[in-house]
Formats: sequence, C-alpha cells, structure tokens
Amino acid sequence: MLRTAASSDPTMPCTAASSPIGDIIISARPADDYLAQFALTEPDLLRGPVLDCPGGASDFGVHVRALGGRAVSVDPAYGVPPEHVDQRLRADFHRVTAWTATRPDRFPPGPDGRWQRLPRWQSAAQTFLDDYRRDRDEATGHYLPALLPTLPFPDRAFALATSGFLLFTYPDHFDLAFHLRALRELLRVADEVRVHPLNDSARTPYPRLDALCDTLRADGVHVDTLAVESPTDRHDTHSLRLRRPAPRAA
Ligand SMILES: C[S@@+](CC[C@H](N)C(=O)[O-])C[C@H]1O[C@@H](n2cnc3c(N)ncnc32)[C@H](O)[C@@H]1O
Repeated sequence: MLRTAASSDPTMPCTAASSPIGDIIISARPADDYLAQFALTEPDLLRGPVLDCPGGASDFGVHVRALGGRAVSVDPAYGVPPEHVDQRLRADFHRVTAWTATRPDRFPPGPDGRWQRLPRWQSAAQTFLDDYRRDRDEATGHYLPALLPTLPFPDRAFALATSGFLLFTYPDHFDLAFHLRALRELLRVADEVRVHPLNDSARTPYPRLDALCDTLRADGVHVDTLAVESPTDRHDTHSLRLRRPAPRAA
C-alpha cells in the first residue's frame, strides 16, 4: 500500500520549486477553500450528513454545523490531546511557510513577505482547535481518528463525503490499489464523493486517473469532473465527483 518512490515521474526534472511537498502534512484549509474547490452550495451541505476525510485542521465541519447541517471529520491525526495536534500543526505550518516561499508565482506573498493566505489558514486552524478541544471535553463525536481505506461507519451513513489533499496529492505514498480501495470505501459510506485536486503538490496530474475512473464506472458509479477554482492554488482546477446509483426499489 505504501510506496517510497521519490517522484511520480522520474523523467521529470525535479527542481526545488517543482518538487512535491514530501511527507503528508496536516493542513488547515479554510471552509471557503472547501466550498470553492469542491463546488459546493449550501443545499449540498444540508442535504444530509457530511463526512470530511481527511479533515486535517480545517474548519469545514464547524462551517457546516454553523449552517445547521451535520458533519463528521475523520483523520488519523485525531484521538490525541489538542496540545499534540497543535504541536504538529505548528511544525507543519513551518514547512508550508518554507515551501510556499519558494513558489511565489503560485503562493503570492502578503505585506509581511509570507504567503498571503497563511493568516486565513492560521485562523481556520484556531477555529478547528477550539472545536476539537470542545469535542474532547464534551464527546460530541465530530472528530474521529480513523484512516482510509477503512472507515468506521455503516453503509450510506452520509449524503456527501469530501476528500481533499490526500488522494492524488501523494502518489508517492499511495498506489493505485490504495486509491481504488479508498474511493470504494468513501462510496460505501456516502451517496456522493468529491475529491480535490486531481494532481499532486507539484501540479503533476494523477497518472492513473482514467484507469481509476473506468474501474469505478464498471462498478456502476457515475463519474464526472468539475472545473473549479481554488483560492489557495489557482492551478488546482478540477475535482472529481462520484455518485453511486440509487438502490433499486424492492
Ligand atoms: C494535506 S492534509 C488535508 C486536510 C484537509 N482536507 C485540508 O485540505 O486542509 C492531509 C491529511 O491526511 C491525513 N491522512 C494521512 N493518511 C491518511 C489516511 N490513510 N486516511 C485518511 N487521512 C489520512 C493526515 O493526517 C492529514 O491531516
């Protein structure tokens, strides 16, 4: 399942600015990124329970609940005290800051010289941490530690699942078989699944996307791609939308 190859395409020159980010980070994309990158409307979020996997340190779940919806975030980074998540977040923010600084064309700097979206990410992370702490204190069940490709939910527990910046983003960590198992698992628990982006962090499109989509179509899944805009990276222009056919009436 886990691979260690350094690059998805060894023939591509790998300069510092064109190399992928490396180890999987815990990121804190703000809810407005989610709405744009997954092309989500308010009715999409209120149709039924929403699963966010991986949730990372995003405040998307908080946003859905503030609208009156239900959302559960799943990530292997959960299940530890908030201070530990905070520590990891700080370390990963350092990596993001250094990584974005070497790519100013993609991540324009703000007046302080750091990537201009960083304050939005920091604010989302703080909202997440406050809510995560509340979840630990009050056992709200909004954050569950688990990892793809096995989710602790019954079939069709969710109307919608969002999965951002894990699948396709880290092809050097996860092979095709993992991607297929993960998407089938998301489709087992949710009627509709949206995945973003369709490329890795060096902007290389996921090379096995067609094969993956063909296999899912053969499963009976309705597959299409959505043209989207990402506030964080304008080069992440597409998302995958997967819809399971409704079960036949008995
Ligand atoms: C780049 S973050 C994305 C978080 C969030 N979706 C966002 O866009 O900010 C990737 C997350 O994937 C989580 N992760 C790593 N392996 C995973 C797995 N097998 N299943 C689910 N999540 C995983 C990491 O803990 C990390 O929080």
